Amino acid sequence: MPETTDVVIIGAGPAGLTLANLLQRNEISCVVLEARDRSYVEERQRAGVLDHYGGEIFAAAGLADAVIAGAPREKFLELRYAGEPHFFDGPAHAGGRAGVIVPQQLLVRRLLGTFVDGGGDLRFAAAGVALHDVTSKPRVTYAGGEIQAAYVAGCDGFHGVSRHSIPSTDYTFDHGIGWYTVLADAPPPRHALMGISEHGFAAQFGRGPTASRFYLEYRPGAEDPRDWPDDYAWQQLRLRLGDPALPGGTITDKEIVEMRSFVTEPMAYGNLFLAGDAAHIITPMGAKGMNLAVADADFLAKALIRALRGADEAALRSYSDTCLRRTWDYQEFSRWFTEMVHDAGARSDPFRRRLAKARFDRLFRNEAAAAYFADMMAGTASVE
Ligand code: APR
Repeated sequence: MPETTDVVIIGAGPAGLTLANLLQRNEISCVVLEARDRSYVEERQRAGVLDHYGGEIFAAAGLADAVIAGAPREKFLELRYAGEPHFFDGPAHAGGRAGVIVPQQLLVRRLLGTFVDGGGDLRFAAAGVALHDVTSKPRVTYAGGEIQAAYVAGCDGFHGVSRHSIPSTDYTFDHGIGWYTVLADAPPPRHALMGISEHGFAAQFGRGPTASRFYLEYRPGAEDPRDWPDDYAWQQLRLRLGDPALPGGTITDKEIVEMRSFVTEPMAYGNLFLAGDAAHIITPMGAKGMNLAVADADFLAKALIRALRGADEAALRSYSDTCLRRTWDYQEFSRWFTEMVHDAGARSDPFRRRLAKARFDRLFRNEAAAAYFADMMAGTASVE
């Protein structure tokens, strides 16, 4: 006989762990199956900002203390245009709504600990996960056995198995831009910093009191930053951030960040629901990847609770349309932001450079434009 539970959650990233905690707090039984081991899940470095909307989700669930306690709030974003500083006060333009600076691995570690300490059933190293009968009575098999559930949540990221169980249409976009990122022992900037210049885009974000993560735009196909000597990376950072005195430091990690976008439609099929990267990949511009995962999980948790407690599936059946509205809103925002900060570069045609400058200037001249930007940064519930 297979085991039974209300919900099988595949994947223990931000989407799966948020959903697991929200269900646990509402006494809905669930089993989380995670392909990797605990240390892999806990150590994986990714995003660094939970937007205001995401913070509210944890607060409303009574999880703020467990998950975001002590984390600083976002304030200024410095957009440095050709060496000229411009400070954007997002919270001031968004009615005080501010994001929380919390590295993804910290969020994941805390969500994982809270779920497991609360008696949650999380199975690591679950190999060979496969989905069956998702349009009737779903079953999930894996090397450790078979589980029958009323519903399955596919939270297993872009490389997972869940999305392949849905007859779907995929939308992809290659932005034609690459990012090279380095972690360095270099003092953090006073505020999150983005450099916009004819030399290309660069950024610097603090990572604790003594380290920074830097980003440098590069041209995929035409250059490979993995060949760049560290000195060259520092020289480009100084140029693009407009700061000849930027101190260097030991580079402790180097990575390539893919700037691509992906959406699969629909996000649900029968009793299978996709959440997070399983359904959509977004560029890091605007920092919405983790936030979309948390927002999907929140809407899905509420819909599952309604279905399992009250036999009312209306919210579940609107899950895909609702989450896709937010996804496309954020994709559009991310693309808008990407163009604004990358099109100033010398490889953009002069017309696009002028458009990017107009977009940038409007942020600091027009309250409606500033409010739009700040609202998207804070995260929006307007789709629900
Ligand atoms: N079976 C079980 N688990 C799986 C499988 C599988 N076949 N395939 C993948 N997984 C696990 C991965 O090991 C990972 O822990 O699913 C999890 C997916 O987590 P994420 O990729 O972090 O995706 P998600 O939870 O949607 O969070 C999205 O995290 O990846 C970042 O930038 C992304 O910020 C975004 C956010």
